[in-house]
Amino acid sequence: MDGREASGERRGMTAAVPAVDVAALLEEARTARGHAYAPYSGFTVGAAIALDDGTVVRGANVENASYGLSLCAEAVALASAHASGVMGRALALAVVGDSASAPSGVAVTPCGRCRQMLVEAEHVAGRALAIHSAPASASGLEGAVRHAVADLLPHAFGPGNL
Ligand code: THU
Repeated sequence: MDGREASGERRGMTAAVPAVDVAALLEEARTARGHAYAPYSGFTVGAAIALDDGTVVRGANVENASYGLSLCAEAVALASAHASGVMGRALALAVVGDSASAPSGVAVTPCGRCRQMLVEAEHVAGRALAIHSAPASASGLEGAVRHAVADLLPHAFGPGNL
C-alpha cells in the first residue's frame, strides 16, 4: 500500500474524486499537533483535512483555564475549513494525539462531539469523509486505521432530521 487511495471514485459520472495521500495527511496532522496548546491536559492533538485540490487545512487542540471551553483539534480544523470557505471541498480528515509526557502510542479517534460535527461536515461536503487515525509518535501509515463517519457515529441525528 503506498498511502494513496481513490475514495469514492465514480466512473462514468462526474469528475473522479482525487486520491488522498493518507501518509502525507497524517504527517500534516503531526505537524499541526506541534502547535497544540494543551497546558492543562498535556494531551496534544493535531488534525488535517484534505481538500480536493490537494491542499490541507490544519487544526490543533486549544485548551483554556476554564477547562470546559477547550477546543478539539478536529473542531478547530473543521471551523477553519468553514472560515476559509472550503468545507465543501473536503475529502478526508486525519487525527493524531497523545500525551506529551507519557505517550501511549495509541491511535486516537474523534471524541463524541467531534463525531457529531463530522456528520455535519459530510452534509456540507456532499460526500462521505474518510477518518484516518494513527499513533502520534509513528511515521507515515504505521499503525494507521481508517473509519467511516457512519461507523464512528451510527444512527446519528443530523440535518435530515430537521
Ligand atoms: N482532544 C482532541 O483534540 N481531539 C480528540 O479527538 C480527543 C480529545 C483534546 C481535547 C483536550 O484538549 C485534550 O485532547 C484532552 O482531552
